[in-house]
Amino acid sequence: MASKIYQCVEQIGNAIIENKDFLTDLDREIGDADHGVNMARGFTEVLAVLPQEEADLGVVLKKVGMTLLSKVGGASGPLYGTAYMKAAVPLAGKTSLTVADGKAVFEAVIGGIQMRGKATRGEKTMLDALIPAQEAYVAAADAGADAATCLEKACEAAREGVEYTKTIAATKGRASYLGERSIGHQDPGATSATITLESIRDFVKGM
Ligand SMILES: Nc1ncnc2c1ncn2[C@@H]1O[C@H](COP(=O)(O)OP(=O)(O)OP(=O)(O)O)[C@@H](O)[C@H]1O
Ligand SMILES: [Mg+2]
Repeated sequence: MASKIYQCVEQIGNAIIENKDFLTDLDREIGDADHGVNMARGFTEVLAVLPQEEADLGVVLKKVGMTLLSKVGGASGPLYGTAYMKAAVPLAGKTSLTVADGKAVFEAVIGGIQMRGKATRGEKTMLDALIPAQEAYVAAADAGADAATCLEKACEAAREGVEYTKTIAATKGRASYLGERSIGHQDPGATSATITLESIRDFVKGM
């Protein structure tokens, strides 16, 4: 039987693949119309190569990261690849996750994306979804909430972050070439990051 982590990655991959055209259309507005295509190609390969029975979270997430690094082009390939590889580090040898592990994963993922991309909050990138999501997750976790509630709060904050990206100009990545003209459009990477978090939330709720 497929491991829980395989099933979770499968849920993320299916959601990304379902949203391929939507993500590409968003990237058409402020980029080069490839974000959905890039991400869907990456996750199609991930679902093809991932060992279904492997339960070690670190092993699986490292494989996801390496596959995305090699298959997804553009800016988001190295960024998402790094994010999954970094997520693998605090989870090495584990087959299940606690709320506290989730905090460590957020920290590793955001640290990795910032190390690679040198972006910060407010530059109209995936970080505008992920950093507020992390804050909401940590606040809920510190208040003693369960995993599903922490993830629900994280998703709400990520959605607000996506809305916020409509109000600001891009200063990183291809969209920065548009400057002020990028205002009014939601960021594709923030959107795919939110879709990822929502898939994880739905998976955890269904467990
Ligand atoms: N430095 C960065 N840090 C974090 N996220 C970034 C950065 N640069 C771009 N992004 C994210 O990547 C998304 C675009 O991904 P996409 O797959 O379309 O790559 P791309 O911009 O087309 O890459 P390239 O310009 O190399 O072709 C943006 O919407 C943004 O969220
Ligand atoms: Mg693009």
